[in-house]
Amino acid sequence: MMNRLDETVQYIRSRYDHAPVVGIVLGSGLGNLVAEMKVEAEIPYKDLPHFPVSTVEGHRGRLLFGELSGKKVVAMAGRFHFYEGYSASDVAYPIRVMKLLGVSTLLISNAAGGMNGDFKVGDLMIIRDQISLFTVNPLIGKNEDALGPRFPDMSEPYNKDLIKKARSIAKELKIPVHKGVYAGVTGPTFETRAEYKMLQVLGADAVGMSTVQEVIVARHMGVNVFAISVITDLGIREEENIITHQEVLEAAAAAEPKLTAIFKELVKAL
Ligand code: HPA
Repeated sequence: MMNRLDETVQYIRSRYDHAPVVGIVLGSGLGNLVAEMKVEAEIPYKDLPHFPVSTVEGHRGRLLFGELSGKKVVAMAGRFHFYEGYSASDVAYPIRVMKLLGVSTLLISNAAGGMNGDFKVGDLMIIRDQISLFTVNPLIGKNEDALGPRFPDMSEPYNKDLIKKARSIAKELKIPVHKGVYAGVTGPTFETRAEYKMLQVLGADAVGMSTVQEVIVARHMGVNVFAISVITDLGIREEENIITHQEVLEAAAAAEPKLTAIFKELVKAL
């Protein structure tokens, strides 16, 4: 694993010789933040040694390097999902690469289904904690001691200071935000009514098919994480209401400017 990571990192350094300090992973329909970046280098995933290749609709599959709000950043345009058939450790591989390039803060967005009765489609939820027991843990297997400990603490998966900063930024920008617990599932099916209900009873406010494995790997390496879910659909809803991928993408795109504004200001405040 360390050899593969070294090769990926060496290749990137041969094409871009600055060290990014912030990593950004954008969810389905939420890729426009990169338009705000001053892009200095762009590397398609397929050029990167040992990188998985993204297949899901709506993802352009490349790493972008450059500046956002005056900071050196690296952004993934397109992430890897477990439901595409990648292993849990493949899903999280780019996060390890980011850390080895110099990243100490990771910002994540995702589209998620809401279970909290106070949520509406298009709302933003700052993730304060996660439930990842329904997915495969990306740290299963031999531990890479050079990256982090065998049994990492997960008492603060999402950094409290970053949450505080983001909440005051949102207030300043007059963008309402919720705070809640995100449950990670494998997908690709949306949940049944009984499953949404179960996740709600277990203490989750939103559910989605990404993020938790990336966060586990980031915390393993001591990277601070901040994440926002865009609520794209409601799990607890009237009988006749169904959920489609199209509606998820549309709701994500409509809410995206709010998310982009918060991320930009948060990067500035780091
Ligand atoms: N469930 C799981 N993943 C999702 C959902 C959902 O309702 N909406 C967007 N991603």
